Amino acid sequence: MGVVALVPAAGRGERLGYGLPKALVPVGGVPLLVRAVRGLFASGRVRHVVIAAPVSDVDEVRAVTAPLAPAGGAVLVLAGGAERSDSVRLALVHALRELPGTTTVLVHDAARAFTPPDVVAAVVDAVEAGHEAVVPVLPVVDTVKQVDADGVVVATPDRAALRVVQTPQGFAASVLLRAHESGLLATDDAGLVERLGVRVATVPGHQDALKITTPFDLAVAEALLVGGRA
Ligand code: CTP
Ligand code: MG
Repeated sequence: MGVVALVPAAGRGERLGYGLPKALVPVGGVPLLVRAVRGLFASGRVRHVVIAAPVSDVDEVRAVTAPLAPAGGAVLVLAGGAERSDSVRLALVHALRELPGTTTVLVHDAARAFTPPDVVAAVVDAVEAGHEAVVPVLPVVDTVKQVDADGVVVATPDRAALRVVQTPQGFAASVLLRAHESGLLATDDAGLVERLGVRVATVPGHQDALKITTPFDLAVAEALLVGGRA
């Protein structure tokens, strides 16, 4: 009870270049957004989803996602904003208004359509166990270099201490609201929360939770289907 997943899905998918907003791009005939929402519900921990949809496609998104809600649950759809953070903030405010019992909020990119339900459940469990902010992470397999403005290497951070961050990211609802009302900027929601000084815990992510950004990623997603992984 009290868990709501916000799904920012209002991006244009410029880097994918498919000619459709990315959330509506099909993989195996099923739009990425539909796959992402199914995964959230399949975790058994989420019954309410709030989607920030492309302004031009709110009705279409409503039509394809409404049937996915489990008994006692719902999918709410609203128009997203200019930037991802705007879409998350709009969805968060809508969720807290429409679903006032909300205590735990997940933020999950429609573009991470193949995230295993177990990852969703692990994030919810960690928030409900008392962590105010939780992110799924993977180890970094490449060596990472820090460079200056000229592209010259200035440092090699210790890879063992680095992690790649995925979604869903999970938060105590009040903490995420404070972060989005702070006026701070960050590239992900956990980054905002971190800047408030809140401790962000990690749980294991999964390779299948890749963010589908480029045509290469879409080919990987198709391969996951062919391989029976999704
Ligand atoms: N997103 C959103 N509102 C925006 C921009 C992005 O809800 N104004 C969502 C996207 O739909 C996606 C997630 O945020 O699910 C991550 O964004 P990204 O992968 O960058 O998707 P796009 O912005 O669609 O892709 P691109 O940047 O290539 O245009
Ligand atoms: Mg984008």
